[in-house]
Amino acid sequence: MTPPAVPAALAPLVAAFVDDRAAVREALRRFGSPLHLVFPQVFAANLAALRGVLDAAGLGYRICYAHKVNRSAAFARTAAQAGIGIDVASVPELRSARAAGFAAERIEVTGPKGITLLTAAGAAGVTVNVDNLWELETLAGLGPAAVLVRVSGFAGSAPSRFGIDLAEIDSALDLLVRHRDRLRLRGFAFHLDTASTAERVRAVADCLELVERAYARGLAPTVLDIGGGLRQVFTGDPTGYDAYDTALRAGLLGQGPALHWGGNTFGYHVSDGAVHGRAVFHKYANIDPAPALLAELLAAPLPGHGGRALSRVLADNLLELWLEPGKALVDRAGITVAQVEFVKWTGAGATLVHLNLSRDTVTAADQEVLIDPIVLTEATGTGPAGVYFAGHLCLERDLVTQRQVRVEQLPVPGDAVVFANTAAYLTDLSAASAAMHPIPVKVAVTRADAGYVLCPDAGYRPGER
Ligand SMILES: Cc1ncc(COP(=O)(O)O)c(C=O)c1O
Repeated sequence: MTPPAVPAALAPLVAAFVDDRAAVREALRRFGSPLHLVFPQVFAANLAALRGVLDAAGLGYRICYAHKVNRSAAFARTAAQAGIGIDVASVPELRSARAAGFAAERIEVTGPKGITLLTAAGAAGVTVNVDNLWELETLAGLGPAAVLVRVSGFAGSAPSRFGIDLAEIDSALDLLVRHRDRLRLRGFAFHLDTASTAERVRAVADCLELVERAYARGLAPTVLDIGGGLRQVFTGDPTGYDAYDTALRAGLLGQGPALHWGGNTFGYHVSDGAVHGRAVFHKYANIDPAPALLAELLAAPLPGHGGRALSRVLADNLLELWLEPGKALVDRAGITVAQVEFVKWTGAGATLVHLNLSRDTVTAADQEVLIDPIVLTEATGTGPAGVYFAGHLCLERDLVTQRQVRVEQLPVPGDAVVFANTAAYLTDLSAASAAMHPIPVKVAVTRADAGYVLCPDAGYRPGER
């Protein structure tokens, strides 16, 4: 039996590019393989969709693109040109934001910061989203600064290593009052890596109480920053996802063909004739796009506020909503292309399609991507097969897929294989340079009247095609 297909969701522009075999071949010819391709027009469309939801909600807002999601200059420049803000988390990201055209007023620094980043942020005059009391105290000693206080410890949320616990907020307010000549409190912030609207609503309610407490101390916060965490859509066919998951579980139980490599259980726990727990690939099941999740959050009734919608309460209190979307802005806006080096068979009968990239160039460390790579081949004759994609490192664990993937036809050396939706964290966070393999080149692709325009990411300028 060949495994069920789990097709990827592709943005229309990306789907058209992948369908245009000549365009893909030309990209590989010019820039080599493997290759990361980013699509700034898809980024711009994602941004427009989020803006549409926020505009309809009728509240003041600022979107700060979370630069950490991808080091692409093309995305940063697209964000700058669109007039939004940016969230940076390191000195090089701060430099990149300035080079992309962001004025200091539109930059905030988030995450845990050492003295070097704090000093750079202070000198640049950007807003500092402080992680802890040490940062607040140190900033006060560096000169005037505008700050957001990041809060954590909300009831019902997972413990976080980031932010100042709700129980410690009085110490932060004391510090802010003591240093009011130097520190200007812009507002409160949080970031929850969850798909749960209920959790975010609780965090917003807690932060509104903090706003009142800050006013009672003579401070004047005007911003509530809800961070990022809006989900991506990976799967183009939820029924394919479910069918694969079912077949995988059957294989783990020995009640169907084994689709897993070796002893891998993908986070499932097999005992007493059943499969328990949650798989590491669960996030690939999401089918709710980020704008829908944002609309749901804004419309959610806020407890303790007479059933008024969250967006209404913020607007009535003249609070500006800040967001720091990373993956929602680059959702389906990047792909990675590799080439087949050869196909081989193991003694146990598994088919291995060897690629010239490594697993961690397209996969987060502890996860398995439950969407299928797309094989672009002109070969014929074999029919559908279940294959494992193997990477080019001399490590047993360098299997790009540790699960069998359905292909409609076995590829041949030189064929392109496309990994969908790799722009969020995958391409940079885990790009491997082991065995002295070079880091894959990144290229921006735009569609113009005359066809696709390819430009090395670093040289991309929006509007210049
Ligand atoms: C403080 C902060 N804001 C925003 C983000 C972006 O999150 P996402 O990509 O889930 O939107 C992150 C990601 O780690 C973060 O740490």
